[in-house]
Amino acid sequence: MTETADVESASTGHPAFPMARKCPFSPPEEYARLRETEPISKVTLTQNGRTVWLLTKYEHVRAVLADPRMSADITADGYPLMIPVPIEILRSVPRALFHLDPPQHTVQRRLLMPEFTVRRVEAMRARTQEITDERISAILEHGGPVDLVAELALPIPSQAICELLGIPFEDRHFFHEYTAGIIGKNTDQDAILAREMEMAAYIDRLLDAREKEPGDDLISHLLMRNREPAFGVERGDIGILVRALIAGGHETTANMISLGVLALLANPDQLALVREDRALAARAVDEALRLFSISDFGTSRVATEDIELDGIVIRKGEGVIASMAAADHDPSVFADPGRFDIRREAAKHVAFGHGIHQCSGQSLVRMELEIVFTTLFDRIPGLRLAVPLEEVPMKTESLIHGLRELMVTW
Ligand code: HEM
Repeated sequence: MTETADVESASTGHPAFPMARKCPFSPPEEYARLRETEPISKVTLTQNGRTVWLLTKYEHVRAVLADPRMSADITADGYPLMIPVPIEILRSVPRALFHLDPPQHTVQRRLLMPEFTVRRVEAMRARTQEITDERISAILEHGGPVDLVAELALPIPSQAICELLGIPFEDRHFFHEYTAGIIGKNTDQDAILAREMEMAAYIDRLLDAREKEPGDDLISHLLMRNREPAFGVERGDIGILVRALIAGGHETTANMISLGVLALLANPDQLALVREDRALAARAVDEALRLFSISDFGTSRVATEDIELDGIVIRKGEGVIASMAAADHDPSVFADPGRFDIRREAAKHVAFGHGIHQCSGQSLVRMELEIVFTTLFDRIPGLRLAVPLEEVPMKTESLIHGLRELMVTW
């Protein structure tokens, strides 16, 4: 069982990892100290007691993520595994895009990317606006106080991903449970395995249905594109890809919606700027992505040869956590990094990663966040927190930063 701790590991003397966030707006405090004193340092994973490297400087994080000698293979011995799934199970199933290296990664990425071009995503804008308007109307009808996580942040990306993939929105509760399970720190292994099997069976049925009767949806497009000679990816790999989109496609965006709204509520001067000038909404989105960098240690790697980084040698087979939250709070790149400042040049953040694995869904995420950040405050101008800021609960049980609840009223 994993527990987040800021303590030193008794056996190795290295700091324990993951480290806890004490406040929703900042990464763990220890990152700043490490960046100052030992930006390439060793930490011990609470999940399995292994020692890996932790990078806390922006330039180091980008260098490692762009380095072809760094592998994303989650099944490699030294990979910084943070989920409680036995390695034998991980090795028995195909790996999703996130965890593939070239050339397999290149083929799957080419298969997927036409679904996420800026043009494709723009075509979804009107429908996303409609979904957002419907949700806000329901909130207004209900009256405050209301939990924005349950009523707005989670339903919008869930509905968007369901419509994109062409799967029934009624199935979302199953996806939510599945995702919460795999990104939870304390889930037991039997429960994870049972959920994985249920999900695999669900996706198998989906693929069968689309093969028999294709529609105008992402899954049908993938299956059809895969018949082209350049692809020919195994059906199991397509299943894993679809599963990754389901798991990666709603909870992350939901967390960013609620955290972004919290940042705007806690910084009325910044909210006023967005309301005065719509062109600033896109900047608010990137600044929120930078500030929270929610999937912090999603960018883990393992070295495939000895690599020198700023005078330190990372040996072949050693694991590396290229911390996005630490990089995005590096004061040599983002001055006064804890401040939510939508006028800064935040778009160079690494909250979507960097290099060949950079997030495929980022245009979709930006579009959804922009719509929510503007529409919510247009339709409910008097929106405010219903509880003191210090009492807004964080999802401490999850490997991805987010809020458990965001009670608001107007
Ligand atoms: C706020 C929301 C999101 C954040 C912060 C986020 C973050 C990330 C990060 C950091 C990576 C890189 C991982 C690595 O380098 O190892 C990544 C990859 C990926 N993301 Fe996202 N993501 C978000 C939403 C989405 C959505 C909505 C989708 C799809 C619907 C998506 C699909 C993917 C895929 C397929 C990859 C793997 C890309 C590759 O390996 O080539 N993500 N994401």
